[in-house]
Amino acid sequence: MNDILRQPVTDASAWGPADLERDRSWDVELGAEHREELERGLKAVRQKGLDVARMTAQDFPTGPALRQLATRMVQDCRDGRGFIVIRGFPVQDHSADDVRLMYWGLAQQLGTCVSQDKHAALVADVIDRGQKKEPLTRAYGSKKESKLHVDLSDIVGLLCVRQALSSPPSVLGSSMAVYNAFVEEHPEWLERLYEGYPWDRFGEQASWEQPTTARIPIFSHADGQVSCRYNRNWITGAAVRMERPFSDDETAMFDFFDAAARKNSISLQLRPGDMYFASNYTVLHGKAAHEDEPDVEDVKRLLLRVWINVPGFRRFSDEPTVRYGLTGHGNIGWTGDELLGGHNLKPGHTRQLCREDDGIAA
Ligand SMILES: [Fe+2]
Repeated sequence: MNDILRQPVTDASAWGPADLERDRSWDVELGAEHREELERGLKAVRQKGLDVARMTAQDFPTGPALRQLATRMVQDCRDGRGFIVIRGFPVQDHSADDVRLMYWGLAQQLGTCVSQDKHAALVADVIDRGQKKEPLTRAYGSKKESKLHVDLSDIVGLLCVRQALSSPPSVLGSSMAVYNAFVEEHPEWLERLYEGYPWDRFGEQASWEQPTTARIPIFSHADGQVSCRYNRNWITGAAVRMERPFSDDETAMFDFFDAAARKNSISLQLRPGDMYFASNYTVLHGKAAHEDEPDVEDVKRLLLRVWINVPGFRRFSDEPTVRYGLTGHGNIGWTGDELLGGHNLKPGHTRQLCREDDGIAA
């Protein structure tokens, strides 16, 4: 039986646009000392000849400024509004490879960074590759709108390296404000939301794994903390593959979710060097379309994405399902070390779902 929280979430993670306008402390500018430490870290990993997969947090020496920033980033994602926007990352005078190393160096100060797709990308390039979206596949970085959703790690980070001419806004929404909308206006749907839905794996599973997941709760609750897992595309994908169409009532529930998410969201103009980090349990992310961009490789919009798991990040009602139920497939969710060891390629060599490095016994 699900332990349904029937009261609204009242902490800082349940925000609306007016709250963010009143207090803009979520919008931070890097100082010269941060950039100097990033440059120093880059020099150190370059001297050792390391790439992203081989580089550990210890290989990228940080000073007090970056350490303090990393602590705040985790605190804001875990205990605050669920996100932070940071501007002024040094992207201008560096190659894309150097930017990747510095971004990876910073991300590794927050926790365990893991692979994100079937190509086992650790720092994923979010860029339009011109491919047509096939049914039941991912197509991140396309020019189309991306509706508000979560990614499959504790924290997602997105850094803008180049912006499109039309500068499509990135959007962040509070899934805890969405939860409150359900509590107040449609409590009759809570049970179904807590039961959840299978997600499609969009062809990113290994050959010996199922193409869909078990049911993943859209909302779950432990010790007063609510966690959200929502991506309508992936949930719909599983319904299509399993030939279990939604009822009209379920479609109305998903429509209500999307409308409440839009209402409780903000649009961000990310310029080159701007980035956000967001908790996937309390914050949804997406972007507007940018159909008018020229198809020129060095001009196209480019963002870099990282997925980070943080030890003891949150209390979960069912850790293996809520936290890891979506990541236990294919090349998703592995560290660089594990990938280099070929763990992702061995049938039956399943990932230890509750990782020891997350401080949780298996
Ligand atoms: Fe995403």
